Amino acid sequence: MQIQIFQDKESLHRAVAQMFIEAVKVKPNIILGLATGSSPLETYENLIKDHKENGTDYSEVVTFNLDEYIGLEGSHSQSYRYFMNTSLFNGLNIPLGQTNVPSGTGDVNETCEAYENEITNAGGIDLQLLGIGTNGHIGFNEPGTPFDTRTHVTALTQETIDGNARFFESADSVPKKAVTMGIQSIMGAKKIALIAYGSKKAAAIRDMVNGPITESMPASILQNHPDATLFLDEEAAALLKPQ
Ligand code: GLP
Repeated sequence: MQIQIFQDKESLHRAVAQMFIEAVKVKPNIILGLATGSSPLETYENLIKDHKENGTDYSEVVTFNLDEYIGLEGSHSQSYRYFMNTSLFNGLNIPLGQTNVPSGTGDVNETCEAYENEITNAGGIDLQLLGIGTNGHIGFNEPGTPFDTRTHVTALTQETIDGNARFFESADSVPKKAVTMGIQSIMGAKKIALIAYGSKKAAAIRDMVNGPITESMPASILQNHPDATLFLDEEAAALLKPQ
């Protein structure tokens, strides 16, 4: 794993956005894996700003998002489909039909299989963006998820429900289940960029980088990825062993 530590959030987001912009320029029909949560928001703002100012072209790009809450329609303001449309896709020239977010309604088991096939048929993910939960989850792969899972339905832990409650009226209105790309699906990406900032993420970052590779710390599997880069601020990096 490569680790980049930034003094402020602004330069962190600029660096991640630059990685994505360069990748889109090199391969206009790139397959991007995208994430939700607060971590990537300003990176997305940077991508939109660059698209408007410099005309970076997303017309051939295809995207796959990591996850979606079960039970929320794409029109629900807390669904990840809605988040992606309003935080990124509507600001770029990407046709919405080329953007994939797993559906949280209908036959979800069918969705899981179809989603995995679509990623494979598209040629696999070239560049995957990740955030990390305070318990080390990536996508919605909670601690204990087997490393060989592909897209599947999962129950959220109370820690994740509480962590995401800030986006809902109360913890009670956070869905208890989600559909998520699995650890194996994520590890199949050719290149991975993970964003983490703030002291709340410091213990998870320490454990994923310096701890053992274990299913109880899902992000620790990234130690085995050949091309993963962590984009951290000083607070998130504070507990790391000196390199
Ligand atoms: C959710 C998402 C994850 C994300 C995590 C962290 O659980 N499913 O993909 O990494 O939240 O969220 P935040 O970036 O808001 O800290």
